[in-house]
Parts: sequence; C-alpha cells; structure tokens
Amino acid sequence: MFADEIRNRYLKFFESKGHTIIPSASLVPENDPTTLFTSSGMQPLVSYFLGEKHPKGLRLVNSQKSFRTEDIEEVGDNRHTTFFEMLGNWSLGDYFKDEQIPWFFEFLTKDLGLPADKLYVTVFSGDEKLNLPKDKTSAEIWKNLFRENDMEAKEVVLETEARGGERGMQEGRIFYYRDKNWWSRSGSPEQMPAGEPGGPDSEVFYDFGTPHDKAFGKYCHPNCNCGRFVELGNSVFMEYKKTTAGFEKLPKRNVDFGGGLERIAAAANNNPDIFMVDILRPLIDALGKSANSGYAESDEGKRKNLRVAADHIRAGVFLISDGVLPGNKERGYILRRLIRRAIFKLNRLGVKDGSWINPAVKAVASSYQSFYPEIESGQKETIGIILAEFNKFQQTIESGMKMFKKIAAEARRVVSGTQAFGLLSTYGFPLELTAELAAEKNLKVDDAGFKKEFEKHQTSSRTGSAQKFKGGLADSSKETLRLHTVHHLLLRALQEVLGKSVKQRGSNITAERLRLDFSYHSKMMPAEIKKVESMVNEKIKESLPVVKTIMPKSEALKLGAESEFGQTYPDHVSVYSIGPKEATPDNPRYKETFSMEFCGGPHVKNTSELKGVFKVLKEEAVSAGVRRIKAALL
Ligand code: SER
Repeated sequence: MFADEIRNRYLKFFESKGHTIIPSASLVPENDPTTLFTSSGMQPLVSYFLGEKHPKGLRLVNSQKSFRTEDIEEVGDNRHTTFFEMLGNWSLGDYFKDEQIPWFFEFLTKDLGLPADKLYVTVFSGDEKLNLPKDKTSAEIWKNLFRENDMEAKEVVLETEARGGERGMQEGRIFYYRDKNWWSRSGSPEQMPAGEPGGPDSEVFYDFGTPHDKAFGKYCHPNCNCGRFVELGNSVFMEYKKTTAGFEKLPKRNVDFGGGLERIAAAANNNPDIFMVDILRPLIDALGKSANSGYAESDEGKRKNLRVAADHIRAGVFLISDGVLPGNKERGYILRRLIRRAIFKLNRLGVKDGSWINPAVKAVASSYQSFYPEIESGQKETIGIILAEFNKFQQTIESGMKMFKKIAAEARRVVSGTQAFGLLSTYGFPLELTAELAAEKNLKVDDAGFKKEFEKHQTSSRTGSAQKFKGGLADSSKETLRLHTVHHLLLRALQEVLGKSVKQRGSNITAERLRLDFSYHSKMMPAEIKKVESMVNEKIKESLPVVKTIMPKSEALKLGAESEFGQTYPDHVSVYSIGPKEATPDNPRYKETFSMEFCGGPHVKNTSELKGVFKVLKEEAVSAGVRRIKAALL
C-alpha cells in the first residue's frame, strides 16, 4: 500500500467522522520561543487544549510534518527517523475514549486491513499517590473490540520496561505501563512543569513477528526495543493540568492522537523496514546508485550508512523548504549537522563528489509531489543550498579524517577539548561527528574542555548549545547581570498579579533591556502593568539577598522552584532564590523567599545592586496564549 493512499484514507476516514482537515504547520514553529522545531501534531495546537476556541471547530484531523533530534542516535536501524509525518486527530473537548479507540481500531483493521491478531495495545497503569487512576475504561473498550474479533484479550500489568523484560508477554494482549502510557510535552507526571497539560494514553503496536533480541531484555514485550513490536499510534487522553500541588482536571477532556505514517505503511506492507516504504525507497535507491551499492545487495553496515544519509537528506530537504539555512546557530546548526553527517556517511560508501545531490533531492520531491508540492517547486534552490554546504565540507573531510586518525592513535582514552575544537574550526567537523568517530575507537570527547575552547574562540560561530550554556544572556556585563536578576523578579511579580498559571516561555537579555515571553491568555491591563512594576521596584528597595544553592532536582521541585518549560534537567540543579532579607547562603529560608528558579546564573548578590527604576517598555502578543514584555532599569 502506498503512503499517499494511507494518508488520504486516514484524512477521509476522520472527515467522515465529523473532523475538519487542517493543513500541516511549518517545521519552524510560529512565534513559539520554547522549541526549535515542530515535533508533533499537537504542538501547534496547545493553546486549544488549554481552552482557546479553534476557528475550525472541535474535531480536527491532519498530517503534520515533524522533526525530532532526540532519536538521532538511533537512526540507522530499520525504523527510526528524525523527520516523519504524524497523522493526527483531535477532539477539543468533544469526543473521548469511547469514540477514539474504536475509530482507530476500525481504521487499522477495516480501512487498512491489518489483522487484529497482530495488534497489541497498552494503557496507563495509574499512580495512587498522585491520584491518577488506572485506565480501566480504555482496557475495557479494547477488550470488547478484540472480543468482536473473536479474541479474548488478556490484561497484563508490567508498569515498567524493566519488568517487561523480566516477565515478557504472559499471553497478554492489553498491557499496563506507567510512564510509557503518560504523555505530555515534557515527559512523565514528575517531569511536567506546573501549567502543562497531559494525560494517560493508549498505544497500539504491530507485531512484525521478528525474533526477539536478548540484548534488549530476557523477554520481549510491546515496549521492548528489539524491533519486533512497532508503535503505530498513540491516543492521548488529555484531561489534566499539572499544578504546584499535583494535578487538576482541565475544563474539558481532549483527545490528541498521533500516528507515524511510515510505520503504519510498513505494517500495511508487513515489512518492518520503513526505508522500504514507497516515500523513502526512491531516495534509498538513488543514493545506492550513486554509491554503487544497491540497498538489497549491501551488508548491514553499508545499509546503515545509506539509511542515515537518506534520513538526514530527507529531513534537510524539508527543513530547507520551510526556510531553514545551514549555519552556526540553533536551527541552522542542526541542519548543517544533518547535511554534513549525510555527506560523511556517503563518503564512507566511496561517494566523493556531489553528483548524488541532484537525484537525491529529486527523489524526495517526487515522493511528496501530491501532498507537499512545495518540495518540487523549490527543488532547484534546495539543490543549490545542499551543494554549497557540500562544497564547504567535502574539501576538508579527507584531511580532517587524517587528522582525526592521528589524534585517535595518540589518545589514551579521551580526545581533548582543544583537539575536538581544532577539528571543528579547521575541518568543519561538528562536535557530534567527532564524538561518533571517537566512540568507534572507544574514545570519549572532553565536552567541557571543548566548550571552554569554544567560548575562548567564540566570535561568529555560536551554537545553540553554547547559547544555552550561558543561560540566554547576550554577554556577562554587570548591566546584563542586573537585568537577569530583574527577570526573576518580574516573572514572580507577573505570577502574583496575573496568577500562578503564568509560565516563562522564552527569554533574552542584553545590557540594555530584558525580554520575557510568558503564557497568558490576554492583553495586560494598564493597572496590572503598574502593579507589576511597583512590586518589582519594591523588591529592589527591600535589598533582598540573592542566594544560589545546588540541590537534588526532586527537592527543588518539591520546594516549588520555577523550571523552564521543555527543559530537561540533570539530577542536581542550581537554584537561585531571592529574599527574605535575613537569608544567608547557609540558611536560605526558602519558605519565605519571594522568587525561586532553576537557573545557572549568574546574578547579582543583592537586589540593592539593581539600582534604577524598573519599567515595562512594551507588552505585546507573541502568539495565541503567549505575551512578551520588554523592560529595563531606567
Ligand atoms: N502528542 C502525542 C505524541 O506525540 C500524540 O499525538 O505521541
């Protein structure tokens, strides 16, 4: 079955159930400072889950272009990709489990003709302490659906992947897991920041029947990563919002379904290799031809290189089509890494010139011409951009590899930061590429040393991670430092005046002004702005100590420290608290602090150093549900 056909059938199926088809949003999120790329279908719709009215109604369906770098290490096997299309359907406070589960089952078994006995499902096992119930309702619905297909579906409680590996299938059909069956943008119930929506989910897996690989656990189970079971789709029952005290129900219950188009197509063809799906195959074939190494005839090592190259080129073509250009920062840096890694893998297959670029981009364009015609109409430009990047990198690969071999031969266990930086600055090897090459030789790269070296040489070549490293500050002057502390005061004052649901959504601080993006549904009233200003000015006058403490993440969360949305934190975190007046580094008196945030600093030592009058210069909308304040110390 062709992917185009599956996509069309899916959209039609849900249209027939009262859904409106909406277009895919761009891979570059519009006015969303929290994230670099669109990585799921629900992401552009978050504000509607929180209660805003969508102009197209309560039932929506689409196929969303999505890009994720979390799985980039896994790309190379037969099922992981960075770019994928997510088939999505949504109920914005309309239907719920009773409709969603039978519909998806009907689509898979009737419209696509998948045999019911190849499907296994998972549901949320609950958490009594958090007052989140076991999802017996979904299990019951699944039981009835299997029964209609003459199957008795046995329920098995596994809770964790580890236990799955120890206990295995136990002839089950419906499996209970905890974290695997909870969905929010930031992960498990514990990882969610206050204000974030989430809920239990139910996933459907297809059994390809391949033999279990014991490297992944003693026994196989639906969430085992050996490749036998592949997840086709995930119905999230988004009915909760995290609060500082725990969880509360959202005003309305939503459904957020997401299913991988390529994986569903692989199941429909009963072939676990998604690179054999018709939208990827022409690209694999084109690259195989350029490398004189046909996919079918290649050994697993060569296939891996072909798959990584194919994945990265397809992702690159889509990113370029959405306006991203290779560069040294943020999105541009990710795109550069993708293209260079693809060039590198092809180089290993003996491809030394750029003659593959034309046929590869054309193969992507032809696979997507009916649904994303912009790839075809922009292909000339795309080819030019990839060719320019190729020309920059290709001439240094050979000499860079020679240099790397020399470094590796001399290294004991570690490639130093200076050496890794040299490979970047002289030969254009992204750090991740050096790390990958090093790992092949059982060597590690000194990341911290690299960062130090990088900062020392930092002029034009800034990466996203290096910027993060500096906590969103443009420089480390005293003025910037001051505005950083004011930034904390402002966030807290906004929460006091507008409510605890206000969360930081982005920030940028220079020596002249600070910018804070935060979640809030409407324009601030002049009186509210005044109140916020006087609260911040009052705290400045009170001469409050600013105290830094390192503590376990769990403790910081328990104390209610503000964490930044979408960030993952290490086990031990640095926390800055402001106030009370009597606080000292030894006795921070957290219960009485005015503000407390996860933050790497740096900050002033006392608010008396802030000097000047705090003033909001501008308050404006960034996107639905996100406001932006620009402010300064005058
Ligand atoms: N948001 C869920 C996911 O990304 C379902 O769409 O898996």
